[in-house]
Amino acid sequence: MNKNPFFGRDILSSEQYSKENLEILVSVSREMKSIVENVGSTDILKGKVMTALFYEPSSRTFASFIAAMQRLGGSFIPLQGMTYSSVTKGENLEDTVRTFACYSDVIVQRHPEVGSAKRSAAASTVPIINAGDGVGEHPTQALLDYFTIIERFRKIDGLSITMVGDLLNGRTIHSLIKLVSLYKSVKINLVSPDILKLPSEILKKIKKRRVKVNEMDRLDGIVAKSDVVYVTRVQKERFTDLNLYEKLKHYYIITPQLLKKAKKTTIVMHPLPRVGEIESAVDDDPRAVYIKDQMRNGMYTRMALLSLVLQKNKF
Ligand code: CP
Repeated sequence: MNKNPFFGRDILSSEQYSKENLEILVSVSREMKSIVENVGSTDILKGKVMTALFYEPSSRTFASFIAAMQRLGGSFIPLQGMTYSSVTKGENLEDTVRTFACYSDVIVQRHPEVGSAKRSAAASTVPIINAGDGVGEHPTQALLDYFTIIERFRKIDGLSITMVGDLLNGRTIHSLIKLVSLYKSVKINLVSPDILKLPSEILKKIKKRRVKVNEMDRLDGIVAKSDVVYVTRVQKERFTDLNLYEKLKHYYIITPQLLKKAKKTTIVMHPLPRVGEIESAVDDDPRAVYIKDQMRNGMYTRMALLSLVLQKNKF
């Protein structure tokens, strides 16, 4: 039996994943997809408990982790918004995490501060899975995005991947770019207004890996050359100047007209929620994978991750 590299580990950043780790995750995610499609659920995590500790709003990440745990036969403690927890009495993150570590086997955490997942991991006796730490990272979203690309193209090398929108604040971008840049022959196109460019420290890391990266302001010229168009929302909650947000929120809009320029094989992705940056008229285009594929894959990859983190002999 091979060693399971995920067992008992915190999942804090996409930088933790190697290509070999990703192969394991893809393989187990396919297994989970097959279980759900054929029998709906399994009981491999019977007796295990997951705390979903969400200090920031979420629909997909919160619900898909809970669905994942239920489909694996485990149970969960759902905490969303923290309004009725002792956080409202001033309890700090470390004490909150120590508390739920006593009741559960894994904690899935979303929090507004960059580095909060790392802080929690230092305090916790059970693994912490980062479900978004402010404008930092969202490594499980990156896994589902990676899985979605792999299921469509069966490779990353040779693809032209275009990331569009709020690259400064988009934690899904920060995590996904670290995964796809593990592949030396990928081309990465970064499309954003100057003020929302990818943070320079992330760009430096990616460039060190010697992958091709181009930064640009305009989207229309690159669409025809892209295999993946990954669109993100301009993140209103990260702006102090709301007038600036209003100017930038619809800087790019994906329309059926724009997609006429794209290849038939191109896929359009979005982590969601969207607030107007992809017109709903695009939803029925077979190239749009943000509704069904990405969301279903979110459940399969989170099932895979939970089973690997909680079961020594899973792989
Ligand atoms: N993609 C994503 O993280 O969505 P939620 O904010 O709804 O969890």
